[in-house]
Amino acid sequence: MAGHETTTTTLSWAILNLLHKPDVQEKVYEELLNEFSERDQIIPLNDILKCNYLMATIHEVQRFTPVLFSAIDHTANVDVENLRGYKIPKGTRMFPQFFLMNKDPKVWKYTNEFNPDNFLDEKGVFQKNQNLTPFSIGLRACPGENIAKMEMYLVFANLFRRFKICPPKSGIVPPLDKPQVGFVVGNPFFEVRLKKRGK
Ligand code: HEM
Repeated sequence: MAGHETTTTTLSWAILNLLHKPDVQEKVYEELLNEFSERDQIIPLNDILKCNYLMATIHEVQRFTPVLFSAIDHTANVDVENLRGYKIPKGTRMFPQFFLMNKDPKVWKYTNEFNPDNFLDEKGVFQKNQNLTPFSIGLRACPGENIAKMEMYLVFANLFRRFKICPPKSGIVPPLDKPQVGFVVGNPFFEVRLKKRGK
């Protein structure tokens, strides 16, 4: 699959989401500032994984603005008599629908808003949620998952530690609900201003 496009598009969505939620951007920065006192240090991956709010934010980006509507289609190679009440005959093609799963109000506390609290417990500790499967699951799940996460976490943490990302002078920030729908679900074009953090 268009691996690097999905990774960079997820990062673009992350920036656009945080332009819409400056309070979330400030909380990400506060956590990074607490953990990494040197602004220009390179933050290593292992340390990023310990940042609860940042991890919750990246997972919320993948839930709220997924870059793929669905996984690749897969075909049942045996008859399945009863999958949660459904009979699935051999040969049936199925498309797991990430968009629907990610917006299922039975599963998410904050369904229709971007809110990293979806992935935090009451103590603010990051919690994975098995209902979020952007890389799909099973034997044919994305083989690039680890490299994609590594790239996203490193770029995200190191970018937001150094810079505040602000709207452009025009003030135009496109909405989140008008994606450029293709094989990869892109965000509308947008411009930003980067302000180097003072500390
Ligand atoms: C955020 C980034 C990414 C997302 C969300 C993503 C998501 C996915 C999904 C949902 C599938 C389909 C799995 C299925 O049908 O069950 C897939 C397949 C695949 N991905 Fe990714 N991917 C990402 C990045 C990457 C990267 C960086 C690479 C390579 C370096 C990659 C390589 C592949 C390949 C080769 C397949 C086909 C696997 C097969 O059919 O057996 N992906 N990806």
